Amino acid sequence: MNYLDFYKLNEEPFSSAPDIKFYYNSAQHSKALVRLMYAVDSMKGLALLIGDIGTGKTTLARRMLDSLPEEEYESALLVIIHSGITADWLLKKIAMQLGIADPSDNKITLLSQLYERLNELYEQHKKAVVLIDEAQMLKTKEMMEEFRGLLNLEAPDRKLITFVFFGLPDIEENLLLDSPLAQRVALKYRLESFNYESTEAYVKHRLGLAGNKEEIFATDAIEKIHHYSKGIPRMINIISSNALFEGFLVKAKVIDSKIIDSVVSDLGITSEQAGIKKTLESPDTTEDEFIIEPVQQAVMQEPVMQESARPKAKIPVQPPVAARKDPDIQKPAEMKAKPKKQEDLDEIDSILDKLEKGN
Ligand SMILES: Nc1ncnc2c1ncn2[C@@H]1O[C@H](COP(=O)(O)OP(=O)(O)OP(=O)(O)O)[C@@H](O)[C@H]1O
Ligand SMILES: [Mg+2]
Repeated sequence: MNYLDFYKLNEEPFSSAPDIKFYYNSAQHSKALVRLMYAVDSMKGLALLIGDIGTGKTTLARRMLDSLPEEEYESALLVIIHSGITADWLLKKIAMQLGIADPSDNKITLLSQLYERLNELYEQHKKAVVLIDEAQMLKTKEMMEEFRGLLNLEAPDRKLITFVFFGLPDIEENLLLDSPLAQRVALKYRLESFNYESTEAYVKHRLGLAGNKEEIFATDAIEKIHHYSKGIPRMINIISSNALFEGFLVKAKVIDSKIIDSVVSDLGITSEQAGIKKTLESPDTTEDEFIIEPVQQAVMQEPVMQESARPKAKIPVQPPVAARKDPDIQKPAEMKAKPKKQEDLDEIDSILDKLEKGN
């Protein structure tokens, strides 16, 4: 028997993949999505969705892409995965995503191809929308100027293309590389971490989708999960999945706060640590963060590599971090637990590192 059988689950409920099947429309995500959908519906030009590490930006980007009806939108999702990307490369990728089969290597020709294609879409009453994830990696002035050029393409009643940048708050700093572009940000929204109610509902939602019908986490356990995770979904997943495994090892049908304490201690997330990582704390959300019309700064850091998004169904989804489905019950429990936790520890280290760098 493995832990999934023990808890009567059909699959791993807390996988680290941003799988939209597990999407939970938290108050935080819902607010963000409503605003971003408004921005693309009215073809605002440029919108930003910023959020701290692990708050669910990629998940939201995928969900958003999925929510854009194909009859109405020509949409794509590009994921920037390194900072060595050139503006020309990006332009070409955008062209391909918008349906230009043979984008030219010549910049002028490429721009005219893009213009023609955007006009064609406009005439077909379709909105060209490009979502860009990890947009903080776009950080050259040249890149910003390219976006500005595209945003200058307008029909009498609206922009011909709208971009939504998803990324860390550094995006805003990068946008300042080209202040005219920064001024074109029509909407900016900050994705906050979950409040307690969302954390609780999120945990139950994921467990429910994985097949759970009975209570697994006691209320005091969920309180602890929220406390230690600071409401950051990725941290909730890491703590919860380790708690399930730990609970299985000690044969606890219901996971209580003691198990959570033990897991976070193994993971090195002490109460003290949770406190010192200021960036893990959820900033207050105010409606002021929903900014329509001219904005301030914004931009991004390193470049990209594309992941694409068209056809939508083919968007690659990263595999889960830990292969916990593999029962492999021949091995002693200790042997199984260690690699899994080590992976999670590495992930936490990387999150903390990034946060420290960001401070
Ligand atoms: N609304 C949500 N519904 C379901 N799962 C979510 C949600 N938000 C986040 N998650 C989960 O939390 C984890 C982190 O989410 P995601 O990768 O989207 O965060 P991110 O903000 O893009 O992180 P990073 O800053 O590292 O890019 C993933 O496992 C994802 O499935
Ligand atoms: Mg992401």
